[in-house]
Amino acid sequence: MHVIAPSILSANFAKLGEEIVNVIAAGADWIHFDVMDNHYVPNLTIGPLVCDAIRPLTQAPIDVHLMVKPVDRLVPDFAKAGANIITFHPEASEHIDRTLSLIREHGCQAGLVFNPATPLDYMDYVLDKLDVVLLMSVNPGFGGQKFIPSTLDKLRAARARLDAHQRDSGHRIRLEVDGGVKIDNIAEIARAGADAFVAGSAVFGAGRDDDAHRYDTVIAALREQLAPFVNPR
Ligand code: DX5
Ligand code: ZN
Repeated sequence: MHVIAPSILSANFAKLGEEIVNVIAAGADWIHFDVMDNHYVPNLTIGPLVCDAIRPLTQAPIDVHLMVKPVDRLVPDFAKAGANIITFHPEASEHIDRTLSLIREHGCQAGLVFNPATPLDYMDYVLDKLDVVLLMSVNPGFGGQKFIPSTLDKLRAARARLDAHQRDSGHRIRLEVDGGVKIDNIAEIARAGADAFVAGSAVFGAGRDDDAHRYDTVIAALREQLAPFVNPR
């Protein structure tokens, strides 16, 4: 199945609980939770306290995207706060293998995030420790940026590596994409091999005039674009 993961970075933070309930009711699969520290990336967002506060509102997986340095200190806190998936940037951890193990030891799925210019090689020796590979299609730090087209080639390259790994080991790793995903480009992103799609401004931007029903319309439109692609699992 294709996963649609709205990023709450573009939600209305004054009524975050409502936004989460509404976006899940509208058909979202995961809640994408962007953690920024004004150090690894030039912006500051939310932490484990907020994850803990929203956890009772939904059964949907919470997909925590850590844009923080260092990483390890926050892993147990997010696991305790109910995160299901924790991804981090390899440049932000001194010991990538150790951080991946730490995430799994705390009962969460683990993933690596690749910035637009970060080579995929970081995944080579840790494939058995990965549940998710997340390719950034914008430079991390802000919502509402434009999709970087070279991500499509990178997605194809990542897809090939992950398919080869699945053939050898039987272990399937999700391929997620984050940044600038919209109704008009999600089909080509899926064609390039992604099977999980973060969409912030595309989803929450649509409800800005307080009409939460628009989330249904956008999510349905995103899914309609994905319909021609065979189930990648
Ligand atoms: C960017 C964040 C993204 C962001 C995506 O650093 O990691 O998750 O919220 O927002 P859009 O979909 O608006 O590009
Ligand atoms: Zn993100």
